[in-house]
Amino acid sequence: MGKGVGTLYGVSVGTGDPELITVKGQRLLQQVPVIAFPLGVNGKEGLAQTIITPWITAQQKKLPLYFPYLQDKKVLQKAWQQAAKMVWSYLSQGIDVAFACEGDVSFYSTFTYLAQTLKKDYPQLPIQTVPGVSSPMAAASVLGLPLTLGSQNLAILPALYNVAELDEVLSWADVIVLLKVSSVYTQVWQKLDTLNLLDCAFVVERANQSEEKIYQNLRDHPTINLSYFSIMIISLGQNQ
Ligand SMILES: C[S@@+](CC[C@H](N)C(=O)[O-])C[C@H]1O[C@@H](n2cnc3c(N)ncnc32)[C@H](O)[C@@H]1O
Repeated sequence: MGKGVGTLYGVSVGTGDPELITVKGQRLLQQVPVIAFPLGVNGKEGLAQTIITPWITAQQKKLPLYFPYLQDKKVLQKAWQQAAKMVWSYLSQGIDVAFACEGDVSFYSTFTYLAQTLKKDYPQLPIQTVPGVSSPMAAASVLGLPLTLGSQNLAILPALYNVAELDEVLSWADVIVLLKVSSVYTQVWQKLDTLNLLDCAFVVERANQSEEKIYQNLRDHPTINLSYFSIMIISLGQNQ
């Protein structure tokens, strides 16, 4: 890579409370001239942007990037390429860019696709990531529970396309975290009811945000209209 290329930083900004950003993440967000972040749904402000607002200034260039919430690989790739092009227009001039990522940057994050797309065309591009608070840890903290203890096995399912997958996971895991639970909540509830496990399950919606909600005693909640930012923890026993 030629001289004078900027560095791309992937900065984890945590799950909602701006104070959950690391000191290093905050410093980088304040020092770079350009801040990129995913555009929210329907062109609204995204969560990462809301979280970093107290830490950045009006003088810094804001670069909202569009990443569609769908599965179509072709559409996704096009969006990653467009985002990479926008980011590269600054990096190529030697200007550093920080991408603010909700939760942790290495945990099911769009940043990885952006970084991989750029790396393909510019293999020597300097990229650095800053780790942060991720939703399973945030949810455990909100619930006042340890996420795992002793020899417990932890399973994290990024999305559940088939509720029968839970049976297989339940055969070896002691603690199961379901991301993106909002779209399958009712089916999961029915499964847990059949297995008599509703008392072991908890849902946290919008952890560390002003709209944060906790759902325990799930027997009383066969359906819930949950936001995308909701997570379920199924904890099969804390005494091992
Ligand atoms: C694509 S994943 C991104 C995970 C993120 N990078 C992290 O470290 O937590 C999105 C899922 O994470 C979970 N999630 C993220 N932030 C959350 C929050 N503040 N409260 C509850 N769940 C959250 C939800 O299950 C959501 O559907």
